[in-house]
Amino acid sequence: MTFTFVTLFQNLIEGYFQDSILKRALEKKIINVDYLNPRDYTLNKHKKVDDTAVGGGAGMVMNPQPLFYALEELKKNDENVHIVFLTPVAKPFKQNDAKRLAAKSHIAFVSGRYEGIDERVVEEFADEVFSIGDYILTGGELASLVLCDAISRNVDGVLGNAESLEIESFETPLLEAPSFSKPKIYEDLSVPSEYLKGNHSKIRSLKLALSECKTKFFRPEQLKKHNCTTALGSQIKRTKS
Ligand code: ADE
Repeated sequence: MTFTFVTLFQNLIEGYFQDSILKRALEKKIINVDYLNPRDYTLNKHKKVDDTAVGGGAGMVMNPQPLFYALEELKKNDENVHIVFLTPVAKPFKQNDAKRLAAKSHIAFVSGRYEGIDERVVEEFADEVFSIGDYILTGGELASLVLCDAISRNVDGVLGNAESLEIESFETPLLEAPSFSKPKIYEDLSVPSEYLKGNHSKIRSLKLALSECKTKFFRPEQLKKHNCTTALGSQIKRTKS
């Protein structure tokens, strides 16, 4: 799987691949990362890539020409490249998208800076457009890394045995149950006693009940998609049906 970051700021992205799981995936050649800088494609003699907005409005907008040239070249080199734009004005990125996109052979993330990208570029080249949440970042680079990370861990071989993909939050409507590490008692804080007794069926039902509680607290809207089955869960009252 190849990821191409189309960005004016390669430095903002590189560091993320210099440690941990994605570093290992790069070393094992399970993923490959490259960069395309629109500034390298500008015909402007001052290397400008942005301008004021036509029709008024605050801030600078990225010009179409450098991005058209860069993305045309990208598509010429790989007709299968899947081009994704990052902007707050888009559908929210979800775990299902991460799983679906993990099957692609090549994804390019196009990051805007300033007030955004000339819409004609998006219209012409976007296979998909995503937002990572209802807030405005200074550019799409962080958002593109978020997608890249979430997609990569669904690519076969990226996670080791210790970093399992099983039963994660968002795979079901419920949030994941809390996890605990050793020691079993830290200072005067113990892990839930059921976790210590080794009865796996009891541990499973406690975890389900805790999942239902967490979901009720943090994401009550998600509970509507789930039938509470545990004693604890059945105490959860829905305020709206
Ligand atoms: N660029 C700026 N803010 C963003 C957001 N919330 N999601 C994706 N791209 C962005």
